[in-house]
Amino acid sequence: MQLNRARLPVRRPRIGVVGGGQLARMLYQAALDLDLEIGFHIRPGDEGVAGWSPHVNIGTFETPSLLGFASGYDAITFEHELVPAQILIELEERGVTIRPSATTMATTADKIQQRALFKQVGATAVPFTILNRDNTPTLPAIAKAATGGYDGRGVVLLETESALGQLDSATTWMIESVLPIEAELAVVTVTSLQGKTICYPAVRTRQAGGICVEVHWPTGLPREIDQRAESTAVSIAAAANVVGVLAVEFFLVAGELLVNEVAPRVHNSGHLTIEAARTSQFENHLRAVAGMPLGSTEMLMPASMLNLIGEVHPQGPPANGARIHLYGKTPRAGRKIGHLTAIAPDLSQARAMAAEAAARLGVARDGGSRDG
Ligand SMILES: Nc1ncnc2c1ncn2[C@@H]1O[C@H](COP(=O)(O)OP(=O)(O)OP(=O)(O)O)[C@@H](O)[C@H]1O
Ligand SMILES: [Mg+2]
Repeated sequence: MQLNRARLPVRRPRIGVVGGGQLARMLYQAALDLDLEIGFHIRPGDEGVAGWSPHVNIGTFETPSLLGFASGYDAITFEHELVPAQILIELEERGVTIRPSATTMATTADKIQQRALFKQVGATAVPFTILNRDNTPTLPAIAKAATGGYDGRGVVLLETESALGQLDSATTWMIESVLPIEAELAVVTVTSLQGKTICYPAVRTRQAGGICVEVHWPTGLPREIDQRAESTAVSIAAAANVVGVLAVEFFLVAGELLVNEVAPRVHNSGHLTIEAARTSQFENHLRAVAGMPLGSTEMLMPASMLNLIGEVHPQGPPANGARIHLYGKTPRAGRKIGHLTAIAPDLSQARAMAAEAAARLGVARDGGSRDG
């Protein structure tokens, strides 16, 4: 039978990414395999992307600069939530195709609006109040910046009243109780341009000092908990009208799943999909943004992903088969400069392989961290 060539696209989709860190870098790697055209918009001084992609636009997060960048692409997507919502709305009004949309980006950039969304789909969110200078919260408590936080920045443990005085008064702070978290889970969802949402199996994340140190699959939790997280995440993604990846983070507290936050982009909890799933989160995000059909989210093997934080001393390739991803960043205390993933027929083996590879790189072990 003759292939119907008339139905094939006439040219490759052109995707513009706002941002140039490791997420952009891994999107670039996936774009090469998909043979998409891809380019990046960064600010002067942003490290990373400028050194490795030939298509980099250096500008600001203001309308004229972003309009100039967007004119070269069919659709614009993001590796972060730093462009103000008002600017995204202006870009859309001027005909720029933004995926996810300006409305979705605005809702998800604000943790207070996120939690209203969780409620809308009947999910239980982490309870919070908004800090009001006339009312001292019961301490200890956790203060979270409603916008702009990531990797634990914007999350402050308040132990004494004097700590309250140090919170920036220009920020809207959410106050939460310090929860007895039994486990932390995340679900990476992906929604096609046509609005069909699928997800990867729930993963378990482990943090130290507010920063994610390990992600593994399977979670080791009862299947019913994973399934509940997965169906809740899919409902949230559908209600958010997202296109592409949206990651949902959960806390398991007294057997109950509480939704903590979402991110409308590829996410640290999905990095292990590069090695362990049929289609990586990066490929699926680009497929969605380019209007292509999504790939299978099936996991092929148990996996452990360790973030490489601070200084790393590469001493040749690890002998045990863990795969290293370095991001080309200057090491700084607390900064993620890479990650590695090990896959194996059983999880304990994958975790041992990952830990051994990390030790070979001279990465400090996070002995005291909670298994969340
Ligand atoms: N109410 C809470 N009680 C106990 N621990 C908490 C609470 N809120 C947050 N944490 C801990 O702090 C970590 C970071 O918090 P959160 O995810 O809300 O902030 P973030 O800076 O947006 O994070 P990231 O960008 O790393 O995902 C959580 O993964 C969890 O380990
Ligand atoms: Mg988080």
